[in-house]
Amino acid sequence: MEGLLLMLQLYFVASHRNVNVPQPSAPPPLRHKHSPQAAIKPLIDEFLDANSPLRHLFFPDIKSAIHPANGSHYYRPGHIWLDTQGNPIQAHGGGVLYDETSHTYYWYGEYRQVGVIGVGCYSSKDLWTWQNQGIVLSAQQINNETHKSNMLERPKVIYNDKTGKYVMWMHVDDVHYRKAAVGIAISDRPTGPFQYLGSRRPHGFDSRDMTIFKDDNGVAYIIYSSKMNTELHIGPLTEDYLDVKPNMRRILVGQRREAPAVFKYQGTYYMITSACTGWAPNEAKVDAAESIMGPWETIGDPCIGGKEMFRLTTFLSQSTFVLPLLGLPGSYIFMADRWNPAELNDSRYVWLPLAIGGPSLESNSSGSQSPWPRVSIHWHKKWRLPLS
Ligand code: GAL
Repeated sequence: MEGLLLMLQLYFVASHRNVNVPQPSAPPPLRHKHSPQAAIKPLIDEFLDANSPLRHLFFPDIKSAIHPANGSHYYRPGHIWLDTQGNPIQAHGGGVLYDETSHTYYWYGEYRQVGVIGVGCYSSKDLWTWQNQGIVLSAQQINNETHKSNMLERPKVIYNDKTGKYVMWMHVDDVHYRKAAVGIAISDRPTGPFQYLGSRRPHGFDSRDMTIFKDDNGVAYIIYSSKMNTELHIGPLTEDYLDVKPNMRRILVGQRREAPAVFKYQGTYYMITSACTGWAPNEAKVDAAESIMGPWETIGDPCIGGKEMFRLTTFLSQSTFVLPLLGLPGSYIFMADRWNPAELNDSRYVWLPLAIGGPSLESNSSGSQSPWPRVSIHWHKKWRLPLS
């Protein structure tokens, strides 16, 4: 254990001071041939321990916060990120909508004071400087339902070109995660207020982690973890985006994946998911498909760079959204949450560049090269978008 701690200390010092330090002498080899989870267990134990001496390395304090006032445009994954008023951004489990009318990005996510108090919305022109637009849907509105919900997670918003409405879908639940439903809300403006329309179990199935994806042709889909998180379900939304159509496909059956984030490049669909380990991070996987309804085929772990144990934990984070970069085809921002289970409102954002291209290094089960292009999420302790 001491070897691991020393290695972590040195890794974080190096990554935070942006200098190279020699590796500690011969750290014990990681034995994880059969289970990556076993290899990362000591790291996860430290991560989950609110009294760990390494806490400040997982959750750096306010002194190293990303502050829009300094204008550097550097993303620093895992650091506190301040809005234009100097307050930590509260948009966990979120997603970003690009609004073509106002040429503005809107970031929606869980606004937390440990528990969720609603959906927070932030606006930006450059994806780095974020202005707080307030709570656009309060958790209270959801609690007015006959079946009381206490949880509101992973809100995502898309724009319906036909109805001119902004439509929000989210995971709503009770404290025990037994309600397992989706909630739907609607607004005339990206900054809300959103009117809550109610909740349901899509296709009659339990639904926990979820996302929605709007395809180029305007057809939108819901993807949700179902059957007690053992599989994902995917199906199109109705034209007004306010309900699901009856057709649904079961995908990644038996794989126990959640936190889906979907994107499309050159006619191929990609989906990043996590394993199901609650707030603890685990290994990301990417799947690809020619048709969004499937079949979906696993490509492998997209994480590149950094130490192996950080790749095996998605750099201590969990996927929530993949944002296409306008004007840079094949380039995306991978958005993830570094959950802080002891203080969920102090959870951090891990934004990293995601690229598609080049031959995949993974081989499929028959040993031949995967037919899919490589999807890479590159670790950077600090990075920024090409300045326009
Ligand atoms: C995670 C999920 C989060 C939240 C958490 C609760 O697996 O991705 O959104 O529901 O579990 O433990």
